[in-house]
Parts: sequence; structure tokens; C-alpha cells
Amino acid sequence: MNTKKDFKRTLVTAALPYANGGVHIGHLSGVYVPADIYVRYLRLKGEEVLFICGSDEHGVPVTMRARKEGCTPQDVVDRYNRLIKESFEQFGISFDTYGRTTSPTHHRVAAEFFHTLYDKGVFLEKESEQYYDEEAKTFLADRYIVGECPRCHHEGAYGDQCEHCGSALSPTELINPHSTVSGSTPVLRKTKHWYLPLDKYQEWLEEWILQGHKEWRSNVYGQCKSWLDGGLLPRAVSRDLDWGIPVPVEGAEGKVLYVWFDAPIGYISNTIDLRPDDWQTWWKDESTRLVHFIGKDNIVFHCIVFPVMLKAEGSYILPDQVPANEFLNLEDNKISTSKNYAVWLHDYLKDFPGKEDVLRYVLTANAPETKDNNFTWKDFQARNNNELVAVYGNFVNRALQLTKKYYDGVVPSVGELTDYDQQTISEFRDVKSKVEQLLNTFHFRDAQKEAMELARIGNKYLAESEPWKVIKTDPDRVRTILNLSLQLVANLSIAFEPFLPFSSKRLRDMLQLPACVWADLGRTDILKAGHQLAAPELLFEKIDDEVVDTQVQKLADMVKANELAAWKPEPIAETVNIDDFAKLDIRVGLVKDCIKVPKKDKLLQFTIDDGLGGRAIVSGIAQHYQPQELIGKEVLFIANLAPRKFGNVVSQGMILSALNADGKLSVTGLDREVKPGCKVQ
Ligand code: MF3
Ligand code: ZN
Repeated sequence: MNTKKDFKRTLVTAALPYANGGVHIGHLSGVYVPADIYVRYLRLKGEEVLFICGSDEHGVPVTMRARKEGCTPQDVVDRYNRLIKESFEQFGISFDTYGRTTSPTHHRVAAEFFHTLYDKGVFLEKESEQYYDEEAKTFLADRYIVGECPRCHHEGAYGDQCEHCGSALSPTELINPHSTVSGSTPVLRKTKHWYLPLDKYQEWLEEWILQGHKEWRSNVYGQCKSWLDGGLLPRAVSRDLDWGIPVPVEGAEGKVLYVWFDAPIGYISNTIDLRPDDWQTWWKDESTRLVHFIGKDNIVFHCIVFPVMLKAEGSYILPDQVPANEFLNLEDNKISTSKNYAVWLHDYLKDFPGKEDVLRYVLTANAPETKDNNFTWKDFQARNNNELVAVYGNFVNRALQLTKKYYDGVVPSVGELTDYDQQTISEFRDVKSKVEQLLNTFHFRDAQKEAMELARIGNKYLAESEPWKVIKTDPDRVRTILNLSLQLVANLSIAFEPFLPFSSKRLRDMLQLPACVWADLGRTDILKAGHQLAAPELLFEKIDDEVVDTQVQKLADMVKANELAAWKPEPIAETVNIDDFAKLDIRVGLVKDCIKVPKKDKLLQFTIDDGLGGRAIVSGIAQHYQPQELIGKEVLFIANLAPRKFGNVVSQGMILSALNADGKLSVTGLDREVKPGCKVQ
């Protein structure tokens, strides 16, 4: 199969985010920043490109959110569509359109698509048994059924998955299932659905992907291969649900298209809304290159299911590349929307206004291109301070400040070039072809690293040619040094435009240059002698320890809160009889004194009034109380425990305390005043 086609234009899509929550750094680094870099690069090269996205507004996740918040699914998607769209705009993700799958165009196009396949006899119609809630009078999506996990016996496993042990489940496997809609026990009922017979396309897919697209990223190719090796099965493309696009055929009352059937068609309908007159050129002309940017959990839908839909329809092109990323972790933990463990874009902008590019930079530097990767705030700070500020910002600032100082901000003319100048020029010309080659093959991290090389070359050039010294002996030479440095600065504004668009724009403003074009990259005559520059400003600023420490703390608090929420008491110990209990002599004691045990940071030494002349007890709770807090308190203690020596104190008994879910100890207290020495029974 021919993979090296002559493409005339590129249609880039980015996965449509579910409109049931905000977007976080994982989304940005996995899908939207790389897609945006790629599109900006193509645009700079003057290529014809469209960048399509929008929100995915159907499906169970949306209805669950609505139920939880007590509003309608429409309210949910209206709210999050607005929030997500705004976040993307704020981070400079330059979609040509951001549509919605609740739009009239989308409903029409998706329904027509289904109907075309239906008329062609593509679908299988099958009856199966599914859980039905007789009280709520509705079929139940897998997520709406909970019960005991058949594998780990955790209560509260979902019909599709047990979050406790991670097993994938089907709802009929659950022990004691019940509906979360009404609480009742669901019953199995027959229902009819339409299935896309993926198995019939198995051979074609093997040829198209395994033979024809060996150049796909290994994670993408590998996942496809393992699906294909496992053998494909027909997949239902309809659901019994009241939120979605009604299945447009007779006998389908109460049924909607499965969200994964309608959502990818959203790429098409959003293109139609944007380009009503020539959308077919973008979707049906073999000279258009289709590229899907997605996260790894979307691979099967974009490489297998959607291509089968397109192939079955017959008039559409197929994706040429699907550069899927792996996942980004956060401070070594999984990002989780449901646990609110994430850095949300709208929160980031509140805490770091004007630092959109810093996040873009760090996310690209750590992009999970080949394996899962980790975001930490310390790394964020280090990359900002050591790379953006110390390398890129520093070079730009030095070149501009020196030009301002020596030439009032006017670009000096270039004189004769030395060998060293020539060598520097050839070094940075190299960078151009490297960045291009890397961007063409979707290696965004390495491409950004190469762009940063330009600034390193510039810093080295300035440091070694020392214009601040040479100015005293050979002012003409300084003209050349600064001219060349400024050309490098102009080159940086182009090389970084795809990665750091806000900074490039500011830099172009300082240079008083119009918008960038990629073809200028590598040129040493971008700025003409005599050209007036604007006043220099700092491109980046240092980020202090306190600022990132606050963010780290915020996440640690969230982990704690989640642990507390997930905490369960330990199972009750083996049964004992009353005689066993009676052996323990538990008494009320009044704390007369309490001090730290020297050199033992866990121990407190108590003097207890036990009504019988008093005793000393040593207890390991120094990390949970200040000694003064406990003086005057009544506590319970085991009075007949064999004495134990701690250093030179003999502890006579044990103070009872409870271990809280968060690991904190609390001493037991009494409800009323009780005389020291009284027995607990
Ligand atoms: N909403 C899906 C997700 O967040 C992605 C849908 S991509 C599309 O995982 F192709 F279906 F649009
Ligand atoms: Zn389980």
C-alpha cells in the first residue's frame, strides 16, 4: 500500500473532550499542545491546514455528572463546553473551529451516517439481555449498576469496572447488583441493538495497518496489533439511553447512537459547519492528509472503529497518521478527574497569569510520547529558571540590551565575518533542518530541545565574542557581533512560534517585525541594518520556591483527602469471651504531668493519678500531642499490663488511644468527670 502520497493539504483533528469536566495538564500535554505545535508549524510553512476540535457532549459521563449535580445533561454540557473552549483559547490552542456534538448539524450528519450504513446493510441486528430498572423504567448503562466485585469482593464495583482491583467487568458478573438510579435490583430484559461487524473488516485492517502503516508510532501500532491478534468482534453502536442522537430507523424508540459512534463523526460535522462549501475536499479527496491527535485510551476508536465506519461508508479518506501519546502523571500519582487530582487549566491561569508559555514549554519537554511521563512542580520551576530564563530569555535580553546601549536600539550593519562567525552561522543553520525533520515525524520534545539549541548557540556566541570588552578596542567588530546576535534572536522568534506562541509574539513586537514565516528560519538577514527595535522587556521571569511549594502542598492535601475518603475500618478481630475481657484491668486516670522523654522523639512520659498513689506511663504519642495539651485530661489506661522499661523510666501500663484514618492518634476521653482509679467495664 502506498503511504508516501503527495498530499496537498492536512486536516488535523484533536480528540473531542467530554463536556463533563474541565481540562487539565494531562489533556494538554497528551493531545492539544502537540496538535497545536504541529498545526502552527504547517501554517508557518504556508501549508493548507485545518485544525478541528469541539466538545463531545453525549454519553453516560455527561448524564452521570448531571445526576450528581441535580441538573440536566444540557446544563452540564453548556457549562463545560464554555469552560473548556475558554481554557484552550487562553493557552493559545489555535483551533480553526471548536464545535459541539449537540449542534443541529452534528445531529443531522451523524444520523445520516448511520442511515447510510444501515441502508447498505452493514449492521448486524441482535437481541441481547440487559439490566433494566423497573422502578425508574429505564435500561441501565453499565456505570449505573453497582454491586460486589466477583474478583476482589469489594462492594461498590461498577458494571463495567471494579475501581478497587482494576478488573474489567460486565454488569451480569456483579454479585447483588443494584441500580444507582432508583436503588432497586435490576432485572434482565431483552433489547435490540445494531452492531458494527468489526470482524468482517479484520483482514482489511491487518493489511491497512499492519502492512500499510508500519511507520505509526510503536505504541499505536502495537496496540492495534494486539487488538487484531486477539480477533475483532462486532460492537454495538446503539444504546438504551435518553441522552444522545436518536437511532434514525423504525423500531428504535428510546435508543440513541453510542457516543463513540457519534463523537468521531463530530470531526466531520464541525468541518461542515466551518467550511460548508468545500468540506468534501477536506474529507473525501485523496490528496488530503488526515491526522488524528489523541491520548492512548482512544487508539482503538481512531485506528479501528472509526476507520471501519469510514471504510464502510465508502466515500471518505482514512487517517494517515495517529500520533497518540501515553499518559502524564502528576507528582508520581495518576491524574484523576473524579478524585479532583489534577492541575486544572483554569486554576493554573489564576495562579500563574501570563505564564501560558511556561506550561506549554514544560509539558512539551515532558511530553509522554513514548511512555508515561511525570509532571512535578520542581521540574516546572527548574525548566523555567534554568532554561527559559537562563538560556532563552537571557540571550534575547543581552542581545537587545547591548544594542540599546551601544546603538540606541538600531540594528547595526554587518561587517566582514570571521571564521568564528561563519562557524556559528553554520551551527544554527543545522538546527533548522533538525527541527523540521523532528516536527515532520511528530517528535515534539526533541524538536523543542533543538529550538532551544539556537539560544544556547547565541549565548555561547555572545560569551565568547565579548562585545562589552571589544567595544573599547574594535567598535566595528561589535556591530557585526550584535547584528549576528540579533539575527539569531529573530530566528528564535520563528523557531519557537509553534511551541511558545505568546513569547514569540512579544519578541516579534520587541523586534518590530511582522508575523513569522518558517522560510526565514536560518536566514541571517531578517533584520536590516538601520531597523529600529522597540524597548526590550524580559521574556520570562524566575519562579520562587514558595510558589511551587504551595502547589506541591495543594496536591499533597488532595492525596490526603482522597485517602481519608477511601478509608475503611479494619475488619473486626476474632471473637473473645467475657472472661478474656475481664482479664484486662482498664482504669480512669488523671494526667497530672506530661513531659517529653529526652532523646526519644516519639515518647511522652505521663504522671497519672490512678487513685492509688499514682504511677508513670510512657506512651508513643509525642508526634500527635504537645505535652501541655494533655495535662489535666482524664484518659483510660490498662492498669495491669506488665511493667516495661524505657531508658531509666518504668512504664506501668498503657494509655488507650485511637488511630485515625489519617494516621493521627487521639487519646480516649470520658463524657463526664469520673474519679481517677474507677474501673472500665
Ligand atoms: N471524549 C473522548 C475522550 O475524552 C474523546 C472523543 S474523540 C472522538 O476520551 F473522536 F470521538 F471525537
Ligand atoms: Zn474488584
